[in-house]
Amino acid sequence: MALHRVARFADIPEHRGLEVRAGDNKILLLRVGDQLRAYQGECPHAGAPLAEGALCHGRLICPWHKAAFRIEDGALCEPPSLDSLKRYPLEMRGDEVWVDEQPLPDPHTPPADDHRTFLIIGAGAAGTAAAAALREKGFGGRVVLIDRETEAGYDRTVLSKFVIAGQMPPEEVPALREDSFYREQRIERLNGHVASLDAQHRSVRLTDGQTLTYDAALIATGGTPKPLDLPGAELPQVFVLRSKDQARAILDATRPGQRAVIIGDSFIALESAAALREHGLAVTVLARHAVPFAKQFGETVGKAILARHVAHGVVFHTDSEAAQIEGNDRVEAITLKNGQRLPADLVLVGIGVSPATEPFAGLPMEQDLSLRVDSGMRVSEGLWAVGDIATFPLNGQLQRIEHWRLAQQHARIAAANMLGGDEHYLDVPYFWTWHFGTNYDYLGHADAWDEVEFKGDPYHPPFIGLFGRNGVVAAAIACDEERAMAMLAERMKQPLPVDEAWRLIRDV
Ligand SMILES: Cc1cc2nc3c(=O)[nH]c(=O)nc-3n(C[C@H](O)[C@H](O)[C@H](O)COP(=O)(O)OP(=O)(O)OC[C@H]3O[C@@H](n4cnc5c(N)ncnc54)[C@H](O)[C@@H]3O)c2cc1C
Ligand code: FES
Repeated sequence: MALHRVARFADIPEHRGLEVRAGDNKILLLRVGDQLRAYQGECPHAGAPLAEGALCHGRLICPWHKAAFRIEDGALCEPPSLDSLKRYPLEMRGDEVWVDEQPLPDPHTPPADDHRTFLIIGAGAAGTAAAAALREKGFGGRVVLIDRETEAGYDRTVLSKFVIAGQMPPEEVPALREDSFYREQRIERLNGHVASLDAQHRSVRLTDGQTLTYDAALIATGGTPKPLDLPGAELPQVFVLRSKDQARAILDATRPGQRAVIIGDSFIALESAAALREHGLAVTVLARHAVPFAKQFGETVGKAILARHVAHGVVFHTDSEAAQIEGNDRVEAITLKNGQRLPADLVLVGIGVSPATEPFAGLPMEQDLSLRVDSGMRVSEGLWAVGDIATFPLNGQLQRIEHWRLAQQHARIAAANMLGGDEHYLDVPYFWTWHFGTNYDYLGHADAWDEVEFKGDPYHPPFIGLFGRNGVVAAAIACDEERAMAMLAERMKQPLPVDEAWRLIRDV
């Protein structure tokens, strides 16, 4: 044991954590009633300082992407972390707090033998989280994780923020789990493309002819970028962005000083516009809306994001659509429907995604080709679906939501239910988006509101905005208000009056 004196009891605040050091380790001290706990100081997901998080309802909520951990024992409650917190031995000597620099062993008990086989189709955000959750929740049978991409699941969200900006080489994109994890947890990774699924006979066929049978299966195939239906769309410098290979192809084709035209004003389109601009390209966006993201974030924040792009030199065209991409064997220009010609070296299409459900044609589908699930993410007996492909009930309405954390929340619920549990989605959707070094955090899923109020100025962050409907918070948006948003992530699970939310924000 190598104990270090790290603090006095009185130094530790009641309603937040305190970061201290034990040897080389950053440690988080938390009060649990009149006791103390010592956990790793940085979030297992992407390293956020957990002392900046919020404590609420017995949970610690990460300030960055709102992973949640049980204060009592550090157990993982909500992703995008896929791990619980490491706990450190702690000793009180009088009012002095001493912490060991070696964490306690993982309390996990080995799962019992199980003859069942669970298949997971798609090893992205949701599929990987589901595989990890099955083992975490004690499943001892076979877990087969199938993906058409050769590499293990990785953090897709950095592709449009840092990879195509030239700030993160594709080989440094964080893996969701290390290779050793799959080995140790006996999760079989299978590189293959699922061609069809027979729910009645519980089998899956791959394009190479292989057939696998299952006891339970989870479909987590995500989205496929919508293609552009225009003359010239087949030229090699016309890109979409979903996978690491596609990001690599964009990066390989990109040189500072070139002209990029982005078609669309989706989140991926505008994150890509910012990234390519930061990479030194001249960027023009052909936008469908006069104010981007107004539907999700409201006019004020949409205009502030637009102003940020314009201030960094992105040019927006909203008055005409693309008619044709010119060029023989490479992109030369885009012609608009109004006759205008925009010279271009590359085109990035960001007009949304369609659920990647072609192999599941036999299953009941929504009009948008997503799979309908119940609140426990179940499609039918023995079959679950999660993430971008799932239409699920949320607050009495059917929704399909394309967010990273939500896909992983779905996955954890489905994993519990595949093991006989009865869990349901009762959380608050959350996502983030990054434009020229500024991160926008969004909580909720409001398509209508009757009041909106800001603390701070959306044009000059930090700021936080609350969207209210009938006096209750329907959504919240913020920059650099991490603890307040972490607190709201937990408190918005129950109807939260707007006045009370403002009081909470003032007090955190
Ligand atoms: C560039 C980019 C940036 C993003 N940024 C953010 C962000 O900042 N915040 C946020 O909240 N969300 C963001 N998103 C959205 C987020 O990534 C998705 O909501 C999330 O990945 C959905 O998880 P999923 O598991 O459903 O799908 P995915 O993560 O796409 O995983 C699906 C997997 O299934 C595989 N697959 C598909 N079909 C088959 C088949 N037939 N056979 C075998 N394998 C198959 C695919 O190869 C893929 O690996 C971003 C998305 C992109 C593309
Ligand atoms: S760093 Fe904690 S959830 Fe991402």
